[in-house]
Amino acid sequence: MLSLLLLPACEQAREDRLAGSIQIVGDSIPQPLDGKSGDPVRGQQVFVSREDGHCVLCHQVGSLDAEFQGNVGPALTGIGARLTAGQIRYRIVDAQGIWPDTVMPSYYRTGDLRQVGNEYSGKPALGAQQIEDIVAFLETQTN
Ligand code: HEC
Repeated sequence: MLSLLLLPACEQAREDRLAGSIQIVGDSIPQPLDGKSGDPVRGQQVFVSREDGHCVLCHQVGSLDAEFQGNVGPALTGIGARLTAGQIRYRIVDAQGIWPDTVMPSYYRTGDLRQVGNEYSGKPALGAQQIEDIVAFLETQTN
């Protein structure tokens, strides 16, 4: 896996650009952000909501009854069986840490961003609680 080949210095740079003091281990962020525990019901709302995550713009989830679900990104049906919570967390926090050229936004990163509106600078796109809620929701998607 590519991330396992990264030099420690590079990993440090990846951690420094995040919105909090966060430890990356391989392709995973094992610890919940800010020590928060997630709620899957709220997570589903954040996942669907246009004002918050709006992940359905690009992703489909089989269990969801949302009207429009996009397909720019891979379907996340069964993702909870394929990835650990830590792997899911890292992909939401900073997708570019895994796929440098991805179109998926980095939701919990403040540094080294290629394009952000001024109103967003210094503030991550989602809060720690919202991300933990989405992680909890996606963890329940095991089939
Ligand atoms: C603009 C489109 C876009 C949006 C919005 C988006 N993603 Fe993604 N996502 C992608 C793409 C594309 C990939 C695949 C990575 C790649 O190859 O670029 C991906 C990959 C993922 C993966 C890994 C899937 C796997 O099979 O390994 C997860 C988990 C994920 N996204 C979660 C989310 C969540 C949660 C949100 C909302 C907070 C979100 N994404 C918003 C485009 C998007």
